[in-house]
Amino acid sequence: MAQLKEGLAGVVVAQSKISKVFGEEGRLIYQGYDIDDLAPNATFEETAYLLWNGELPTQKELQAFQQQIQEKRSLPSEIMNLVTGPLVEAHPMAALRTAVSALAAYSPDPAPTPQGALQAGTDILAKMPTITAAHQRAQQGKDPVEPDEDLDHAGAFAHMLTGERPTEEAHDAMTQALVLHADHGFNASTFSARVTASTLSDTYSAVTSAIGTLKGGLHGGANTNVMKMLEALDASGEDPVDHAKGLLEDGEKIPGFGHRVYRTMDPRAVHLKQWSQKLCDQIGEPHWYEHTAAIQDFMLEEKGLHPNVDLYSASTYRGLGIDKAYYTPIFAISRVAGWIAHVAEQYDGNKLIRPRAEYVGETDLTWEDLSDR
Ligand SMILES: CC(C)(COP(=O)(O)OP(=O)(O)OC[C@H]1O[C@@H](n2cnc3c(N)ncnc32)[C@H](O)[C@@H]1OP(=O)(O)O)[C@@H](O)C(=O)NCCC(=O)NCCS
Repeated sequence: MAQLKEGLAGVVVAQSKISKVFGEEGRLIYQGYDIDDLAPNATFEETAYLLWNGELPTQKELQAFQQQIQEKRSLPSEIMNLVTGPLVEAHPMAALRTAVSALAAYSPDPAPTPQGALQAGTDILAKMPTITAAHQRAQQGKDPVEPDEDLDHAGAFAHMLTGERPTEEAHDAMTQALVLHADHGFNASTFSARVTASTLSDTYSAVTSAIGTLKGGLHGGANTNVMKMLEALDASGEDPVDHAKGLLEDGEKIPGFGHRVYRTMDPRAVHLKQWSQKLCDQIGEPHWYEHTAAIQDFMLEEKGLHPNVDLYSASTYRGLGIDKAYYTPIFAISRVAGWIAHVAEQYDGNKLIRPRAEYVGETDLTWEDLSDR
């Protein structure tokens, strides 16, 4: 009998060249490059190109890739109407999931090949910021903003959210957030995408699966939950450490802490912590950072638990003036780069992903007629 591994913890199911999480050291690499080098230097497009092609682009290759993305950024009018009409009251991740799924209607069923994945992936990656920004504006009763062709991916997204071009600093912060979230080994949403791709289903289906998986509070939904926690303690005026103590006493998990792989501080959180401090100071609301940092110290001392990527992304996005309901979609707008890379890798030498369960139910029951039950 095969050994039971709950939650597939520690199980290795495939070989991959895309990224590696070094759990003990707190290090993350994409295709061999350390995120500490990529975060301050790379654009999001360079990062996506690297993840998809296994090497950094030349200037010419980058320009061509940026142009492909720019050309695909606008939504078909029916999708825009769907996002800003029937989906307007939906959870932003439900709206994103539904809109990405609906995009399949505008592309011939992409082939389940690496090339098919990258082709469909360019379309999906290009349009996800447009969908999210239009949804946020519709929720605020505002019209969508046309994509600005002079801006890169991070800048175009920020511009479509607010209608204004971001400052250089806000642009840098958004770029780094997108670069830092772009891939992370066989995390749950990536695994979802790969499971879907492994049946030789199409790339739109794989990304739709992944968005649904990212939405949950144990995964990408944690960044929104961090902000909900910070707002709750702010509203009550409670001391942050007392608030965290209370949550632990009630047996609750505190969002933004713990990880399946890291046993030290998540290296992405190191960068986002700096952004959080800087941006919260700038908006004159340093308490979002300070309360987070106080809970970080408490959690390490009390439970030996370290921050994950979601702890400081929350206050970073707050510093950028973004509504907390849209924090998880930002994660998706970035992680789609990794999902697509993994879908392509899965198609290349595909093996159906199909684990087994240990059956613990009855085995020899006797059928009873409905009239006798
Ligand atoms: C990320 C997470 C799902 C990893 O789960 P996992 O690998 O299955 O680990 P577990 O949930 O079994 O946690 C191991 C232990 O640490 C505790 N723990 C883990 N994360 C915790 C948290 N955020 N707050 C309080 N306790 C936590 C668990 O209660 C458990 O304690 P126990 O052994 O006494 O029961 C988990 O840490 C979590 O729920 N974190 C909060 C949500 C979050 O931030 N998610 C984003 C991840 S990037």
